[in-house]
Amino acid sequence: MLVRLMYASRAVPAVDHDELVAILRKSKANNPANGVTGVLCFSEGIFLQVLEGGRSSVNRLYSHIVGDSRHTQVELLIYEEINERRFAGWSMGQVSMARLNPGLVMKYSETGMLDPYAVSGSVSMALFEELVATAAIVGQS
Ligand SMILES: Cc1cc2nc3c(=O)[nH]c(=O)nc-3n(C[C@H](O)[C@H](O)[C@H](O)COP(=O)(O)O)c2cc1C
Repeated sequence: MLVRLMYASRAVPAVDHDELVAILRKSKANNPANGVTGVLCFSEGIFLQVLEGGRSSVNRLYSHIVGDSRHTQVELLIYEEINERRFAGWSMGQVSMARLNPGLVMKYSETGMLDPYAVSGSVSMALFEELVATAAIVGQS
């Protein structure tokens, strides 16, 4: 029983590049043992993350993440049962902002800024899928 979950959140001001690296390192250390894969995007103080895996594992991880004091306003955008993973290659991939084509964000937004609070979950997921297709995700598991 596989599920896919996507949420958005706002990082607290103390989250800097080093903190992001620490979150990614912890995710890559923990997720393989739990069969969780996914991608994390961090831009303009906003996190957007997709988690995939067994229902119990994803639910447990999400409840930990919601309680993490490094972010607030955690908003569930998508929760769905799936037959197959889309992000199987990453224990926790990272969207490389350097490789992000600004036109791609513009394609899915009113302003060209990443704002998952302002668009539907399916729009954010479509953006993620294009990021995979355009090799803008780094950090192979
Ligand atoms: C935006 C964000 C994303 C996170 N993603 C993950 C993740 O994918 N896997 C994970 O184990 N922890 C993740 N964490 C960290 C968890 O909230 C928590 O600190 C961690 O799972 C605790 O692991 P430990 O019990 O091994 O110390 C994330 C935290 C934040 C703020």
